[in-house]
Amino acid sequence: MEKKHQVAVIGAGPAGLYGARELAQAGAEVTLFNRDIKPGGLAEYGIYPDKIAMKNGLRKQFQKILSTPNLQYFGNISIGDDADLSLADLRAMGFQAIFVTTGAQGTKWLGLPGEDLRGVYHAKDVVYFYNHLPPFSQQDFHFGSRCLVVGAGNVMIDIARYLIREAKVDEVTALVRRGPADVKFTKKELGYVAANLDLDLLDAEMQRVGENMRSVNQDPQAAKDFLLSALSKAAPKVSETKFSFRFLASPQAMRGDDGLLTHVDVENNDLILKGDATKPRGTGNIQALEADTIIFAIGDKVDDSFGLPTEWNEFIKDENPRFPQDGKSFELAGEENIFVAGWSRKASDGLVGYARKDGVNGAKAVLAYLAGLPKGESALSGLADKLASLSKPIVTSDAALRLYEVEKEEAEKRGVEEFKFDDNEAMLRAIGL
Ligand SMILES: Cc1cc2nc3c(=O)[nH]c(=O)nc-3n(C[C@H](O)[C@H](O)[C@H](O)COP(=O)(O)OP(=O)(O)OC[C@H]3O[C@@H](n4cnc5c(N)ncnc54)[C@H](O)[C@@H]3O)c2cc1C
Ligand SMILES: NC(=O)c1ccc[n+]([C@@H]2O[C@H](COP(=O)([O-])OP(=O)(O)OC[C@H]3O[C@@H](n4cnc5c(N)ncnc54)[C@H](OP(=O)(O)O)[C@@H]3O)[C@@H](O)[C@H]2O)c1
Repeated sequence: MEKKHQVAVIGAGPAGLYGARELAQAGAEVTLFNRDIKPGGLAEYGIYPDKIAMKNGLRKQFQKILSTPNLQYFGNISIGDDADLSLADLRAMGFQAIFVTTGAQGTKWLGLPGEDLRGVYHAKDVVYFYNHLPPFSQQDFHFGSRCLVVGAGNVMIDIARYLIREAKVDEVTALVRRGPADVKFTKKELGYVAANLDLDLLDAEMQRVGENMRSVNQDPQAAKDFLLSALSKAAPKVSETKFSFRFLASPQAMRGDDGLLTHVDVENNDLILKGDATKPRGTGNIQALEADTIIFAIGDKVDDSFGLPTEWNEFIKDENPRFPQDGKSFELAGEENIFVAGWSRKASDGLVGYARKDGVNGAKAVLAYLAGLPKGESALSGLADKLASLSKPIVTSDAALRLYEVEKEEAEKRGVEEFKFDDNEAMLRAIGL
């Protein structure tokens, strides 16, 4: 068999899929491992459920990638310490480079009292739940009537959107540590929930924070105009949920009764200037808010049980990369042949298009590294022995392609736009595994 450079790509989200294609098209033999049965990562299990046209467009591209020559997909396989295969296993099989594109699977808990109460969640788990990713899809989330969502990014809006338009809870309050001029969501995204905005509460909140904003050279009226601008193209109201913002506020502790969240102690912040940027500074003034659900939508971190050293929210990159691309390092510190891209390189950063570009750039760094190495024997025979010993169904490219077809047929049968299996067993049965 013709020798080729052997590359293991770990994670089949946008970064891994587009990166794997770049590598395979350059002639490397690429083995793409994925924890989930279905490829796509957050493009499949993160993007809001009703953005069906966007997801279908991406699915078409992903299906094409699965059929790329030199590229083998192995879904339902986790890599890492205490996972199905370790990084050492991959090295022993003869993979010459390992490209980590596992996204940001760790949870950025803040270490506050009461994080273990029922009703306290992290956004990623909730997003996976309503996007039907097993096992989250089968877990019993408790969305009460008063919900707090921490953060002011697009993920906060997605969660608020789910609570307002699907769960139809009584109240949703976004807890934002800085002010209305520092929000990160777009006007378009806000439009999905703007019809539920409690305008009296917004007025009162703007009055409350206005003076502090002016003291850091922010314009309260411009910030309010931005929020109100979403009203002109707001999606029609489908629930009576009251949606409001609580600015300059950080949760400090969660309290409960009988294991269930009942209150969140929130500290008021002052906005201060640090250079050109605003920062929140706690005032020590704490108020208890009644709440039965709090969801932290504050970004994610990489999985620190993966088997690679992490610092803060990230794997530690080599600051002096041998093969920089666009001035960025895709190389892990102290590792000869491990590369990262996408949300594994920088957690919770950017959209699918950005992850795609990052995956391709990371692949270019891998190719530059491989250019200095002789080609290797296929790693696939060593892998086959190891996979056989795992006694679990492995989802190949053909099986994954079949799954797309089966889900499409099931949607047509049920007369719905999209259908996804909620559990792995049903998914595997449907593709004959
Ligand atoms: C709630 C939410 C909504 C979003 N909505 C949009 C949107 O509307 N439009 C848009 O353009 N972008 C959106 N994004 C951003 C977009 O989803 C990300 O930019 C992109 O998916 C990141 O790609 P990635 O490949 O780096 O990681 P991911 O998409 O997270 O993919 C990681 C992959 O790695 C696999 N994996 C994880 N751990 C392991 C392991 N140990 N072994 C093997 N495999 C593993 C996972 O199964 C997954 O398939 C959204 C993000 C979120 C969180
Ligand atoms: N529809 C879409 O296109 C869509 C949907 C979802 C996600 N995405 C993308 O996915 C990426 C991630 O989104 P994201 O919303 O998770 O991240 P994000 O945009 O970075 O927002 C994170 C929010 O959490 C706050 N935060 C961070 N740490 C905090 C803490 N310790 N305490 C309180 N608040 C804290 C941040 O406040 P500060 O600003 O003060 O740091 C910020 O408001 C973004 O690129 C986003 O655009 C896109």
